[in-house]
Parts: sequence; structure tokens; C-alpha cells
Amino acid sequence: MTAVKTLGQFIIEKQADFPYAKGELSRLLRDIGIAAKIVNREVNKAGLVDILGDAGTTNVQGEGQKKLDVYANEQFIAALRSGGECCVVASEENDECIYIESEISKNAKYIVAIDPLDGSSNIDVNVAIGTIFSIYRRQSLDGKPLISDVLQKGSEQVAAGYVIYGSSTMLVYTTGKGVNGFTLDPSIGEFCLSHPNMRIPKEGKIYSINEGNYVHFPQGVKDYIKYCQEEDINSGRPYTSRYIGSMVADIHRNLIKGGIFLYPVSSAYPKGKLRLVYECNPMAFILEQAGGIAIDGSNRILDIVPDHLHQRSAIFLGSENMVNKLMEFLSGSNLMTYKADSAISAP
Ligand code: AHG
Ligand code: MN
Ligand code: MN
Repeated sequence: MTAVKTLGQFIIEKQADFPYAKGELSRLLRDIGIAAKIVNREVNKAGLVDILGDAGTTNVQGEGQKKLDVYANEQFIAALRSGGECCVVASEENDECIYIESEISKNAKYIVAIDPLDGSSNIDVNVAIGTIFSIYRRQSLDGKPLISDVLQKGSEQVAAGYVIYGSSTMLVYTTGKGVNGFTLDPSIGEFCLSHPNMRIPKEGKIYSINEGNYVHFPQGVKDYIKYCQEEDINSGRPYTSRYIGSMVADIHRNLIKGGIFLYPVSSAYPKGKLRLVYECNPMAFILEQAGGIAIDGSNRILDIVPDHLHQRSAIFLGSENMVNKLMEFLSGSNLMTYKADSAISAP
């Protein structure tokens, strides 16, 4: 019986990877883990308490907020506020950044961008939902943090992760040294290491896309979908279509089984639907660290310099061979061949 390793023990053990760090990042990850357990408690009893349904408010995206969106947002912000390691929170649910100016936080090293509840449309139907977080080091030296501290390229992230509230609750994160997954053991209230060194298979047989938007997709995406659906025994096609509608759940499945997730531009979302800062960047960092690729159709997601906090982007990410095959169909791209785990190079 191998010894249980909790998230806290793992974080401390890996702290040696960061000689310059004096424990702040470790404590920040601990704070996020605590908030995740609190949100998990509400998610798990959602049908029994008045936490389902609409909050009757809308967020900056103009989207109706669910009670759990608001609750999760409050819990993560409260945990970050009291933990003292974060000086700015950028949340999907807040128009502007939240500057934490308490004595213990105003000089904190880290910025956190967060999607507190991902997959909101699935809350009321008991389908897996998640939380996505992204951590940057503050660049400005003193005074009030600047918006440029928040709008850093995804390649500047020091950590990123997600929580998936599914058949079990997992926390998956990276600090740039690989990806590790922890499953919540409710009997001890701890996230325990269950998926060490997660790697996405280079090949997969699953494609995830909302085909309801098919008519609005760029031609290259339509052609790739047809490629996935063609009969070709040698390459294992037709592939399987799987789409949950929670980015975290769709990508978590593909991370484990291999696959590609696609959210192209469409008429409803001419710049894409998913938000660069707190959805695309953290998921791209995790997938690259697991050996996958993440692009917007012609650029590496992590190379995009954000213009504004709630900026949207098209995103295609997953197994290396599947994303590179997609690239062959996307006209106007530089037809770069992306090598996971290394710098991008044109042929
Ligand atoms: P959120 O609930 O944080 O707004 O995110 C929902 C996102 C993402 O989770 C999912 O992949 C996508 O919306 C699904 O969009 P469609 O319903 O348009 O397919
Ligand atoms: Mn989301
Ligand atoms: Mn959300």
C-alpha cells in the first residue's frame, strides 16, 4: 500500500524546484486548494440547498450568472484575500481587477487570474464543471500593481491549474515542471496525488467541438471535422465525438485519453468564445507541460500578448499529432509544425 501524498506535502516537496521561492507560491497553491474544497462541498450538495439556478445578475460578459458562479467567485477571492500571497485577482466574474491592498497582501508577489466556475450551463443538470486558475509573478516593483502585471503573455505564467468537480473532484496543476493530478479524498478532506506526471498521448481518437456551430466555422475547421468523420482503418477513423460543454471536463478527458478540443471563431463569437487570460492560457500551459500543443489557429496561445482582461480567443489544443493534422487544414496559417515541449519551428 503506497503512502498517500497530499497536495500540501507534494507542494512542499517540490518547493526545492524553486530555490528562489521562500514558500509564497506553495502557500498560494494551498489557498487555492482550500477554496476548491469549499466550493466542492457546495457543488456536491447543490441539489439539496438553494445554490442552483440563476443569481439574477449578469457578469461583464453579459452572461447570466448562476448562484454557484457567484458563490465560487466569492470563495476563491476570500481565500486569496486572506492568504496574503496575492496582490491582484482577475476574475471572469468581475469587470475590473480586484486589488488586494491589505497590509499582508499589498506587496505580495503574485497575480491570480481565475474562472471560478467553468461550465456554468452544466451546473443545474449535474454534469461535470470546474475552476481554472493562472498565476503570474508581479512585474512592477512597488506601489499599486499595474494592469500590465495582469496582461502578461501566457508563457510568463509561473503556475496554472484546474479543479474538476466530476465523479470525483480533482485538482490538476503545473508549475512548469510537468503536470500532476490530485484526487480529493472526502474521508480525510485532502487532495491526494493520484495522477503523477500526466502526459497527453501524442495521438488520440477523440475530437471535441460544438458541432451546432458547424455552419459558421472557418472552412478549414469544417474540412478537419470531415477528416475526423471519414472511414480510414489505418488511422483509426472515424474518430469519436465527445463534447461535454465544460472546457475543464472536455480537456481533462482528452489529457488522459488523447484527443483535440476545438473552439473556433463563429458568428456568435467572431473572436472565439473562450477567454484568453483565465481559460485559454492556463489550459494551454497545462497541455504544453503534458506534451500537447495549444494554438489559436495560427499562433501558439502562450505567445499572445493580451490587450484586455476579458479578451476572447479561438483555441485548438490537445494531442500533438492531432493539432498538427488540424494545422494542415487551416488555410492562412504559416503551416508551422509544432513540436510539443520545444520552441515552435516553421518547416
Ligand atoms: P463558463 O461557464 O466559465 O462561462 O465557461 C463556459 C465555456 C467552456 O466551459 C465551454 O467549453 C464552452 O463555454 C461551451 O460553450 P458552448 O456552450 O458555446 O459550446
Ligand atoms: Mn469558463
Ligand atoms: Mn466561468
